[in-house]
Amino acid sequence: MSFTNKFTWGGATAANQYEGGYNEGGKGLNAVDVLTNGSATEPRKVTWKKSNGETGATPLVWGQDFKLPDGAVPTLLDGYYYPSHQGTDFYHHYKEDIKLMSEMGFDVFRLSMNWSRILPNGDDKKANEEGLEFYDKVFDECAKYGIEPLVTLSHYETPLSLITRFGGWKDRHLIDAFVHYADIVMNHYKGKVRYWLTFNEINAMDMAPYMGGGLIDGSEQNRAQGAHNQFVASAKVVKLAHEIDTNNRVGQMLAYSAYYPYTCDPKDQLKVMEVKQDMLFYSDVQTGGRYPDYRLKKYERDGIKLNDNPEDYELIAKYPADFLSFSCYTSNVLTTHEADAKASGNVTAGGVKNPYLESNAWGWATDPDVLRIALNDLWDRYHKPLWVVENGLGSADTLEKDGSVHDDYRINYLRSQIKSMRDAVTLDGVDLMGYTTWSAIDLVSNGTGEMKKRYGFVYVDRDDRGNGTLKRYPKDSFYWYKKVIDSNGEDLD
Ligand code: BG6
Repeated sequence: MSFTNKFTWGGATAANQYEGGYNEGGKGLNAVDVLTNGSATEPRKVTWKKSNGETGATPLVWGQDFKLPDGAVPTLLDGYYYPSHQGTDFYHHYKEDIKLMSEMGFDVFRLSMNWSRILPNGDDKKANEEGLEFYDKVFDECAKYGIEPLVTLSHYETPLSLITRFGGWKDRHLIDAFVHYADIVMNHYKGKVRYWLTFNEINAMDMAPYMGGGLIDGSEQNRAQGAHNQFVASAKVVKLAHEIDTNNRVGQMLAYSAYYPYTCDPKDQLKVMEVKQDMLFYSDVQTGGRYPDYRLKKYERDGIKLNDNPEDYELIAKYPADFLSFSCYTSNVLTTHEADAKASGNVTAGGVKNPYLESNAWGWATDPDVLRIALNDLWDRYHKPLWVVENGLGSADTLEKDGSVHDDYRINYLRSQIKSMRDAVTLDGVDLMGYTTWSAIDLVSNGTGEMKKRYGFVYVDRDDRGNGTLKRYPKDSFYWYKKVIDSNGEDLD
């Protein structure tokens, strides 16, 4: 009872949290480059400036309305700390890091390409050669160790210039800009990369519209248009990818959470149904190929009008994603009743604390069955190959004097998750392509901008203010994961 021989193991990262080198090699700024650090209790902020010289910083709270003041555009300001600028410096450590990944036995390394490293303004005619060269070196290094790259084209990295000039993904100009960018990189890296993801956690458009869509006004109208524009862009990129290389496979990337009703009151079940609709709307369109009726009805009720044309829907139907990848860290409990202790989670935040599960210091519950539930749900709905491309435990690790890190809590978490995933494959027959944990190496937390919330198999010496040597230290989980990969998921002890 095991994974198939084709099953792939690895780890995931994102440029805005990992790469650093934010102003090196001709790179332009992106959405996250103007996002400050935060903490479990303090939200990250987008810093901005108005044409009259007024400046400020607006908090970005997941799941809440986001809008910059009228006339404000995101910009870098003195006196703020921006963690993406250095990340954990993959830009200068890529050789060492990819070697460490190969020591663990990675088949796959998921990384995102910084769109503004290739096209500094997001829609420049010509690519920035230095940017192309950087990823050439990265992919060559991967090839040296037989590691397959899985490339996210945009992991919350909308180029800042597209935000200031067009207001982000609400404008159809971004469809053309994104397809142009994909055209450049898919041609340039032909033969080096064959697995692509379009937008990280595409449903972040609703829960974190600045992250997901570079929207500085996250109104429902703008979110709906932003999502529509990304669906059309995705379909065009699937078409293009297949034309460029028949080996190319383009996946959707969805933020998935299992939702449980807190009581057996049917009203709680209805709430679960509605929250799941908000999540699965994104895969119904991008993977399923059509707008679901429940969403169209909602748009009708809310007076949302899309700037669309019939060709959009033909493209969406004809070029759905080749596979469905997703992130899944936790589950959420929903209720229409009064309940105490609030729980939290990444973009799938909300709900109340699950009395049957333990939570980490940031309030995310550890659910040993969530991946089996997620995989069955998505497999039954779409019957397309699935890929778990993010799953992991954020924790404050301790670097011991001898350079070791004893993260048995992370090993326990990952063990439970792999078992759950294995059940979905062996007991339920789900078609699962692979598993890339979050994260391969320590990097900046997306939600809080902290370094303290670590996910990697390798500790990086850097703190919440950017101090530290950036030296790498394999954790206990590094050696454990190596054993897991060596045994294709058999040896989880
Ligand atoms: C996912 C994102 O939502 O969760 C990652 O795709 C992110 O970018 C990960 O890092 C973990 O969330 P956080 O907030 O703990 O970094």
